[in-house]
Amino acid sequence: MVRFLGILAGIVMVFVAAWSFGHGAYSFLTTPKERNVVKEFHEEPRDLHLASDGPFGKYDRQQLQRGFQVYKEVCSSCHSLRYVAFRNLEEIGYNEAEVKAIANQWQIDVPDIDPKTGEPKGRKAIPADHFPSPFANETAARQANNNALPPDLSLIAKAREGGASYVYSLLTGYRNPPGNLPAENRPGPNLHYNPWFANLNIAMPPPLKSDGQVGYKDGTKPTVDQMAKDVAAFLTWTAEPRLENRHRTGLAMLIFLLFTTVLGYLAYQNIWHGPTSRAVRRTGPLNPVNMAKRDAAAEEAGIPSA
Ligand code: HEC
Repeated sequence: MVRFLGILAGIVMVFVAAWSFGHGAYSFLTTPKERNVVKEFHEEPRDLHLASDGPFGKYDRQQLQRGFQVYKEVCSSCHSLRYVAFRNLEEIGYNEAEVKAIANQWQIDVPDIDPKTGEPKGRKAIPADHFPSPFANETAARQANNNALPPDLSLIAKAREGGASYVYSLLTGYRNPPGNLPAENRPGPNLHYNPWFANLNIAMPPPLKSDGQVGYKDGTKPTVDQMAKDVAAFLTWTAEPRLENRHRTGLAMLIFLLFTTVLGYLAYQNIWHGPTSRAVRRTGPLNPVNMAKRDAAAEEAGIPSA
């Protein structure tokens, strides 16, 4: 009787499981898929290869300087770099005098306070200052940008999936909306279609509009593509100025670990009294016969046994 009840319970369970699986599969196959328009039109970051890529990568200082020039002449009119100081530019190859001149001639004043009256006022930047925002505060920034906020760019290459490739794709990604884009996803007033931006429509007007917008001094051709690559490389540096250090430390660490592994193996060979160790191979296995021989030899030589 008990066995019969057990079998019956088993059959019922199997039936319930099969039924719920069948029901789920049926509704999965028959319900039409919800369309996610943003996903459908969104593009993955384009390929971008920088000198700093890979475990041994180093920054291309020439490219970083070009990228800085693009930031200075184009992006800085809307975006700050609040974690980067003018003097950090020495790390990408500018000398002290050049850094002083760059800070002194910066087009945006640094907010300060009048020491006599206590009133807020602007002053010329010095090398210790960080790259200032052109707007006094968030409200002013939104006011000037159709209610969108230009984010600080110091860490943007770390903050967005795709990093430098994303920045490069975004800057070169402005196009006309495709014909089959539904009306509710079309750019509204003051928005620009860009399939690399999260919701397809970005408030930033295309900052790099034409070849030659920035005059490079090193002979590189300032095409829109090149300027976008250079500023993406520069923003990779602002997000991780210690990258080369990290790569060097990683390499030293690997060499050290390799060295200690070899040392550890040799020590094991010499000290460990296993059947394969060298010490045992020299004297033969430590069986009572050998140990007796050794003790006898020690006694003969006048060495007191332990
Ligand atoms: C006219 C002002 C303006 C200029 C010039 C400008 N930007 Fe922007 N930028 C914006 C605004 C506004 C946003 C916010 C967009 C939004 O949220 O829709 C933005 C957003 C961004 C973002 C973030 C996108 C995201 O994923 O959230 C990046 C990266 C960026 N800008 C890079 C640059 C670079 C690089 C330059 C220079 C080549 C530049 N911008 C020049 C106004 C500007």
